[in-house]
Amino acid sequence: MRVLVTGGAGFIGGHIVDQLAARGDEVVILDSLAAHEAAPKHLPPEAELIVGDLADEASLRDAVEGVDAVCHQAARVGLGVDFDDVTAYVADNDLGTANLLRALWRRRFDGRLVVASSMVVYGEGRYRCPTHGDMRAEPRRRADLDAGRFEPRCGRCGSDLAWAAVREDAALDPRNVYAATKVHTEHLSFLYGRESGATVCALRYHNVYGPRMPRDTPYAGVASIFRSALESGKAPRVFEDGRQTRDFVHVADVARANLLSLDSDWTGAANIASGEPHTIADMAEALAAGFGAAPVVTGEYRLGDVRHVVAAPDLAAEALGFRAETAFAEGMAAFANAPLR
Ligand code: UD1
Repeated sequence: MRVLVTGGAGFIGGHIVDQLAARGDEVVILDSLAAHEAAPKHLPPEAELIVGDLADEASLRDAVEGVDAVCHQAARVGLGVDFDDVTAYVADNDLGTANLLRALWRRRFDGRLVVASSMVVYGEGRYRCPTHGDMRAEPRRRADLDAGRFEPRCGRCGSDLAWAAVREDAALDPRNVYAATKVHTEHLSFLYGRESGATVCALRYHNVYGPRMPRDTPYAGVASIFRSALESGKAPRVFEDGRQTRDFVHVADVARANLLSLDSDWTGAANIASGEPHTIADMAEALAAGFGAAPVVTGEYRLGDVRHVVAAPDLAAEALGFRAETAFAEGMAAFANAPLR
């Protein structure tokens, strides 16, 4: 199979390229190399690299030529610096996806399209009140956070809400610009599928970590921030009380989920997660242990952070046959020693 991987020189895209090349697929990479000084050395020599971004019509035309499947990973990720980034996110993610879809449309592509999405499309995860059942978490209030009350509370009785695993049928509720562009990426891609006959699958990644993760930048997630701190001899700074919960999924598992999805014709959006939730404090401790260090819990908070996002991984198992294989302890221990980019 000839597969186009957009963003194939990046963190997740690079692992997808490795796995496709290892099983003998023909790989075309379209990557702007904006996040790199030169083409990364880890790219398999047999993969064809087209250097160009999603705004470049000629590169896109070359990239989509003759491919049987497309795996769309190129995106501006993370939270960015502030709202000033809005046009850059929309240009790269919304318009970039639109440009890719138009290039596919012009060659009447009706093969397989897999797009990278994110758990951020849900906003806060799913919550239950012990008395009142399922409950939406309102954006957290500064007064509560200042007083160290980090758990979202029931709108009816005020008691702390407990998290529950979020399923794909949860309402989409993007709470930052990046999240909004991922919702739009999904919607445009599914519309393309309906118009063209291509089968489309969106993979909602939870917190991805692993080798070649980019270093600490305004666009980086917490695993990279902690790993970079430890490398420079500093303790990871755990915000809030450390009991916020996430699902950390290894990049090799995420890449395998993409291959399973490329081989399938299932249409829909699925969580890609380990199914093994952990607190941020757990993660900091597991990583710090690899350096003989200990994290500090600071009580600081970021107003835009969500408290718990934990995935229900069942749909990916049923629809795609995907189950994560890297256990948290062994994945984090290896990540403590893995090279960052
Ligand atoms: C992250 C990504 C998001 C991505 C998603 C799924 C960022 C900023 N967010 O969302 O783009 O789609 O994973 O892969 O890249 N924290 C600390 N100390 C720090 C930094 C953060 O304790 O120095 C805590 C935060 O308070 C938060 C948690 O770690 O509770 C996770 O933060 P982060 O990784 O930034 O964002 P996610 O919401 O998990």
